[in-house]
Amino acid sequence: MSGSGHAVPALVRVHTDSCALAAAAADASTAVIAEALGRRGRCSIALAGGETPRALYTHLATTYRDRIDWERVHLFWGDERVVAPGDARSNFRMAWETLLQYVPCPASNVHPMSGGDPDPAAAAARYGEQLTRLLDGEPACANRSPTFDLVLLGIGTDGHTASIFPGSPALAATAPPAMAVTTPADPPRRLTLTMPVLVAARALFVLAAGATKAQAVAAALSPATNPQVVPAAALRAAGARVTWWIDRTAAAGIDAGRIT
Ligand code: 6PG
Repeated sequence: MSGSGHAVPALVRVHTDSCALAAAAADASTAVIAEALGRRGRCSIALAGGETPRALYTHLATTYRDRIDWERVHLFWGDERVVAPGDARSNFRMAWETLLQYVPCPASNVHPMSGGDPDPAAAAARYGEQLTRLLDGEPACANRSPTFDLVLLGIGTDGHTASIFPGSPALAATAPPAMAVTTPADPPRRLTLTMPVLVAARALFVLAAGATKAQAVAAALSPATNPQVVPAAALRAAGARVTWWIDRTAAAGIDAGRIT
């Protein structure tokens, strides 16, 4: 929040289609990584799940592969489905298929959530402790949440982001860094970073493509929206640290003046 108490608006970048937005977001991600490495000697990224980030990850694994010092990049997840590691719904598996297997990021720098753990709550608590240990070494932000250099997110048609769905306990300002949650999605049980950790990040990129996302994107960008109803609206607390990377069809519900 700015000093006046009014949230500074997020940046909104509209591209012709999902391919163009993925390329632009990959270029911007590479710049954020370089800036973090220059300032702090390392970069921590929380990866998004779902389908939208695939093209971005592919760009990072090809076009930008050799422009990134992967040895100093640490990869985390914003959420994970509670499924066996090889399950097609695993966010780790998607990142492996599109990014991890192609880049020289040391295994010790890759920090998956334990989606296969029989005790999701314990796995979430351990992940939160790991974040506090690994990220709090950096200048932590005012609310003492672990601070990522870059958080990549998507948005669902219902306005969820990561695995923070409407009415989620992960929206609470007092939520721990990571939680096990039950959601209306498939699979229902998930591990997710919580909103305080997301909005503490130095940079947040929200990716949205397709007409089905237009209503959720417009709602999330409206200051009048209740985050309990549209969780992605809570990202406004991060102000201009948030950049929305959307295509024209996903931008259909927002005023042209809102596009930066
Ligand atoms: C997940 C993501 C979730 C996703 C949205 C959009 O694990 O599914 O964290 O928040 O970003 O559901 O998914 P698509 O990119 O597939 O539309």
